[in-house]
Parts: sequence; structure tokens; C-alpha cells
Amino acid sequence: MPLPEGFLSELKMRNDITDVASSYVNLKRRGRNMVGLCPFHGEKTPSFNIYTENGSFYCFGCGVGGDVITFIMKSENLDYIDAVKFLAQRAGMEMPESGFDDSMSLLKKRIYEANREAARFFYSQLYAKVGEIGLNYFRQRGLQEKTIRHFGLGFADDNRFSLCNHLRSKGFKDSEIVTANLAFNSKSGKGIYDRFNNRVMFPIIDLRGNVIAFGGRIMTDEKPKYLNTSDTPVFEKSANLFSLNNAKNTGERTLILCEGYMDVIAVNQAGFQNAVATLGTALTQKQAVLMKRYADEVIICYDADEAGQKATARAIDLLRDAGLTIKVVSIPQGKDPDEFIKSKGSSGAEAFKNVLECSGNDVEYRLSKSKSKYNMKLPESRVAYVNECAGILAELSNPAEREIYASKISGELEISKESVLQLVEKELKRKTGNRRKKEFRTIQTKLSGRDDKVTPDRYKKPRVTSAEEALLAYLLNHPDKLNYITSRIDENKIQTGFYKKLYIYFCERIKNGKDPLNAVSGDFTAEEAARIFQIVNSYSSRIATEQSLQEYIDVINDEFLKLKTKDVANASMEDIQEQLKRIRDSHQ
Ligand code: GTP
Ligand code: MN
Repeated sequence: MPLPEGFLSELKMRNDITDVASSYVNLKRRGRNMVGLCPFHGEKTPSFNIYTENGSFYCFGCGVGGDVITFIMKSENLDYIDAVKFLAQRAGMEMPESGFDDSMSLLKKRIYEANREAARFFYSQLYAKVGEIGLNYFRQRGLQEKTIRHFGLGFADDNRFSLCNHLRSKGFKDSEIVTANLAFNSKSGKGIYDRFNNRVMFPIIDLRGNVIAFGGRIMTDEKPKYLNTSDTPVFEKSANLFSLNNAKNTGERTLILCEGYMDVIAVNQAGFQNAVATLGTALTQKQAVLMKRYADEVIICYDADEAGQKATARAIDLLRDAGLTIKVVSIPQGKDPDEFIKSKGSSGAEAFKNVLECSGNDVEYRLSKSKSKYNMKLPESRVAYVNECAGILAELSNPAEREIYASKISGELEISKESVLQLVEKELKRKTGNRRKKEFRTIQTKLSGRDDKVTPDRYKKPRVTSAEEALLAYLLNHPDKLNYITSRIDENKIQTGFYKKLYIYFCERIKNGKDPLNAVSGDFTAEEAARIFQIVNSYSSRIATEQSLQEYIDVINDEFLKLKTKDVANASMEDIQEQLKRIRDSHQ
């Protein structure tokens, strides 16, 4: 059973989308709408729109869209019912007693509780006799008591049932423990066993303070060195960062991005609370966009080894695309931050602070990386170097910045600044050409509709699909025209699968006196909801006239008849008459 309509409309009325969104996005008025930088993908020019008229949003850059509930689902990483609860609480409303499927929400709650209990258990084990090797491990790695407590570190012993038994004794069901990825089902099908054994444990905590996952490190050289919770209903590895819960509270808008748990912890212990790390995978776009929410600048602090340098190059691209300013630290003697701080003993914190202060921006980093590849004594190497520099400078959007670095390079190589800038110009032209080609290809694929998951059948009949979109938009913007429209267009004339479904859905709702868009975020998938609001908002201004409505109706009928005339025997009398009438009309 769906949520009551009255509840949903009140919820939306009391949670004005502009109000809600403005705590996540900097919004500016543009005409009747509000625009800003999209919080769901990285961008430098605003393509995120809020349509105050119908309480929806749509981003032309990444295609995300929906109503205020969808907005919260995306921003807070919640499912539908939890987003509704979130907004109800925000507006001081009670949830209805029934009328919604709460099972996912309840399961998630159980997983959070199981994780919290597991974290408590691991922590207490660390200080029990059995955890002595774990505690010694942390101490030998230089962690102080207060650091261990602050991060809630723990220990999983080598008994394969310790945690399972503990959680069962606290009332957790085997299925809940397995879904939390704290245990596995045994192959024999009899019972479950712990996922983490003989490891020191790092709880991963989300921005609301829930324990969502764990990382566990083996204390020897065995492999795998780290084991992380797999994705669960409450944990998406590629969308979370270790210690962001601490880092977001520092009040500075700078984050230090490290490679691993131990680096973050060591950096914290040295006095910098704003360190975060990915969770056993390379940085993702989602994580970069998440960082942009809490920071304007990121200091990349990866290992000095080759893998670390590769990861740095990748991170620079992602962070830059997310609109962040970047600095790159180079840690002396090929160490990672943890090793470096520890190697400096009691002056570790001071030494690390110096390293941070000496960090260059991403351009300086890339130029110096490039330089280190070449022997500057050889003329051909110098040529190769200056060409590579031109490629790097061509990525800078600010001409003044390009000039400054061009001067620097010209000084280094004793060539004129003009010739450096000439090379940059050449690169810029090439890049623009490539970008155009890429844009053209993207538009082509979009127009062909071949990568369209919501309406995969659109490429077969682009003309009728567009008319159907326009018709739906007209109907949604003029629900009073329902009878007229349904008298002209029978649902079977809608040829695009998803639009036929929408046509039936909206007609039904309007007929029953319901706001057609009220329940969209609950009744459709995220992609479908985005499409619906895209249609409503992009057609609304263009379809005001009844004459244009008539055109859409004609196209749909026309295309339907074409379909039918292939097999005239099956065409209905009405269709044929209608077609004949239109032919007559158009010849008058
Ligand atoms: P320590 O050796 O404990 O100091 O860790 P480190 O952070 O120096 O290790 P490394 O640079 O090897 O790894 C960095 C991060 O990659 C770790 O924090 C983990 O998140 C991840 N990682 C390392 N080894 C493994 C592994 O075997 N499996 C998985 N899934 N992740 C790993
Ligand atoms: Mn390390």
C-alpha cells in the first residue's frame, strides 16, 4: 500500500525544495527557477535547476532529477521510506501508522545496530586477554591510548565464532549478521562463521555517526593485508570515506587525502583531524563530489611509490572535475605519511606540518613529475619536456595561469616565453577539436537513444517518442484537458513502452483527482523519476498553446495509422475515418 496522498502533499508543502536544497547547494535565482552547481556530479558551470512551480529539480549535466524526496534520497544516501522519514522529521510531522513498506528501513536499522554492537565487541576484545597481541600491535605502531579510543579501534580473535555468538546473544538473527557482512553462511549450510578473524579492526563511521563497515588488518605479512566489508544495504564502498565523520567537523574547508587507514590515524594523532582515505579502492567520482561538499581544497598525500603516484594522477583529474583546488604533498624518502611521522619521533607532527606547507599545486606537481623523466642536458629531451609541459598548461582554463607557468618553463629551458605559449596554443586547438568530437559523439548516442535505459525503444520511432513526451508534458501541465486528450488518444496509440505506462498512470491519477506528480518518487525508479521531471520541466514553457497540443495528437495518430496501414485489415474503422478526416482537413 502506498503512502497516503494527503500525507505526501503536506510533506512536500512543508519541505519546500528550495529551502531543503539550499543547505546542500548554493542557489541563485534565474527567472522563476533557481540554479546552482550540481551536488551530484562535479561541474564548474551550473546546470542544476530547481523548478519552484512544481517542486522538482533536474540537472542537465548528469541527468539526475526528481522531487524533494528524490533530492534527499540522493543527498543523504537514503532509500525512499527513510528519505520520507527524514523530511517528516525535518517538518515536525508524524509518519502515518501504516501504508508503507518499512522492511528495508527496518533491515538497515538492524544492520546499523549489529555493526555498532560488533564495534563495541571488537573494542572490548582489544583490552581483554585475547586481544593483547592486537593492542601490542597498535602500540608498536605508535598509537596512543586516546587515538585508539577516538577511532574505536578493535580486535577480532582467531575463534571463528566469537562475534557470531556474541551477536546472537544480543538477539541478532543469523540472517542479519550475514547481511551485515559480519559473517558468512557455511558451505555445508549449517550455521554461520565470522568474516573477520585474527585482525586488528577499524570501524568505518558515516556522517550520521552510524557504524557502516569495518576494515581489518592482519598483524603479519600474510595476505590479504586488509580485508574490508563488502557492499551491504548500508555500505557502498565507493561512496564513503574513512574518517570523514571526524574531518567534516574541523571547520576548515581543506581535506587531506591519504591512501590508508593507518595514514589517516597517524596524521590525526599528529594533530590534523581533516584527513580521510578511500576504503581499499581507488578514488571515485562519487567520493570526489562528496569531498566537495565539505571542502574547497584537497591535499593529496599518497605514498611516494609508483602505485601511489599513479593514484595521484588519477585523483588530480577526479578532484579537479569536482571543482576542488588541489595540492600534492611529496613525502621525503619514499615513505607513506604514517611511516614518515613515526620516523621523526617526537617531532613527527612538526615535520609533517612542514611537508604540508611545502606542498605544491597540481600543476607544479605534474610539471615536476614530467621534468624528472627527462635528462635536461639532451636537446631532444628538452623538446619532449616542453611539449609535455604545453599539454599540461593547455588544461588550465585561466590564461594568466598559463602565462605564469610558461614564464617559469621558458626560464628553465632558456627559450622564449612566446614559443612556449605557441606550443600551448597548438595544444589548446587540438584539445578543443578532440572535445568537440567527443561532444558530438555523446550527442549522437543520446539522439539515437541507444544508451537510453528508460526508453530503449525510442530510437526506432524518434518522431512519435518526442510527440509522446510533449503530450505527457501538456497533460501534466494542463490536467483540466484530460477528457479532451483521452478522447483523442487511446493508450494503445502510445508506442514507447515507458510512456504508455506513464500515460495510463497519469490519466488514472488525474481522473481520481490526485496530483499526478505527488507519488512519482515512490512509484518509479530513480532513472524513471528523473525522466518524468525532465519532461515536465523542459516542455513546460514550449507547449502553452492548444494548437501545439493538436500537433502532438496528430503525430501520434499519424504514426499509429502508419503502423496499422501496414496491415489494413486490422485497422479499426475509427482510425481509418480519423485519418481520412485529417487528410481532408489538411487539404482545405
Ligand atoms: P599499513 O601497512 O598498515 O601501514 O597500511 P598501508 O596503508 O601503508 O598499506 P597500503 O599502502 O598497502 O594500502 C593502502 C590501503 O589500501 C589500505 O589502507 C587498505 O584500505 C587498502 N589495502 C591494502 N592492502 C589491501 C588488501 O590486501 N585488500 C584490500 N581490499 N585492500 C587493501
Ligand atoms: Mn603504511
